[in-house]
Amino acid sequence: MKEKIQELAEMIYATQKPRPDNVVPVAWKVFDATEIQYAIEAISDCHWTEWRFNAEFEKKLWEYLWIKYVVTTNSGSSANLLAFTALTAHELKDRRIQKGNEVITVAAGFPTTVNPIIQNWAVPVFVDIELETCEIDIEEIKKALSPKTKAIMIAHTLWNAFNVKAIREICDEHKLWLVEDNCDALGTKYNWEFTGTFWDISTVSFYPAHHITMWEGWVVMTNNVLLKKIIKSFRDWWRDCWCATGEDNSCNNRFGWQLGNLPKWFDHKYIYSRIWYNLKITDMQAAIGVAQLDKLEDYIALRKKNFQYYYDNFSKLGYDEYFHLPKSYPEVDASWFGFWLTLKPNQKFTREDMVMFLNENKIGTRLLFAWNYLKQPGFINYVEDYRVVWDLKNTDYIMENTFWIWIYQWITVANMDYVISKFKEFLDAR
Ligand SMILES: Cc1ncc(COP(=O)(O)O)c(C=O)c1O
Repeated sequence: MKEKIQELAEMIYATQKPRPDNVVPVAWKVFDATEIQYAIEAISDCHWTEWRFNAEFEKKLWEYLWIKYVVTTNSGSSANLLAFTALTAHELKDRRIQKGNEVITVAAGFPTTVNPIIQNWAVPVFVDIELETCEIDIEEIKKALSPKTKAIMIAHTLWNAFNVKAIREICDEHKLWLVEDNCDALGTKYNWEFTGTFWDISTVSFYPAHHITMWEGWVVMTNNVLLKKIIKSFRDWWRDCWCATGEDNSCNNRFGWQLGNLPKWFDHKYIYSRIWYNLKITDMQAAIGVAQLDKLEDYIALRKKNFQYYYDNFSKLGYDEYFHLPKSYPEVDASWFGFWLTLKPNQKFTREDMVMFLNENKIGTRLLFAWNYLKQPGFINYVEDYRVVWDLKNTDYIMENTFWIWIYQWITVANMDYVISKFKEFLDAR
């Protein structure tokens, strides 16, 4: 059976078309026959909900990152929601986040790093970022602190890393939770430690555009056993029962619990102690994740190489005259996702001119997420309770002047030379 599945996977993989050098799309899933083989194996297990591949994926990831607990979930948005909502649980006593508490964050980010704060009735407090690193400005965090501050919830920007040391000091001094959205930074290190492993809770993405993929999917990670229990319960409908999927009576007391106003002998599997949902993944997704994790180190190395190739060529061509090139802190060994460029003031062209030209030449670009989130229609129409510290000058500048190009692992030197030649053509004409 295994050989037949392998043969079938190779046949399917062989139908993938090679890509030309002069088309450089935005991120693309990078895989080979192994991902297809494992996914078919997961289907042929006939288990389908999370099972052996999920267990293997969680184990492999905690072994790689050196974090104690990894809980898979179905998307990044779900992961951030789980991570933040876990901090509202009554088990955390006076440290729990409650309605009206403040959480420091940035407007220059992905919406679902901020939305869980709003949906849990806490108040997001927005501070500005630095122009060159695109990371949160530490001095602004200090200005934002108030007696109501309970947490900081931010992402590392585009595979860079925020100023971990300074933020750690602030969190320790003021007893704040830190929710670290590590979606864009898998494999990045700060002082030799992986991002996503520093604090209370972090999240990582496996959406196709990221370092590795599992179709849709994310994880929530923590070193704290109580938080892990809370996260898992929130993910699994907040059932009171803690049996794994498909397991029964692991407490040896399945019909012996009496909670709420339920009658005696009520099945523990169907007792819900909070209002929540099912946010689990399937074992097919986890199977793809297992195959991808084995390639993670190679992918990170390729991304770093591609990033350096652009950086060296853009520097050699003197393009720092037009753009701020990406910059990280000296302590950071970044596992880059994209290569971002911020137009310097007073150029003879706009960001839109450049992006349109690149797109006409089949070179994919992206803007930096939702920046500035406060200007998005959804935010304007639905969010009333928030605070802005001072102004969001750099956030606004970046919203209008930054874009990024791709460096993912399939991009070849020929692709990059093509991109560089198009930048040259555009800039020489001005
Ligand atoms: C920093 C960050 N957080 C959260 C998300 C949301 O992830 P998902 O699309 O899996 O819901 C993204 C998406 O790319 C992201 O970049």
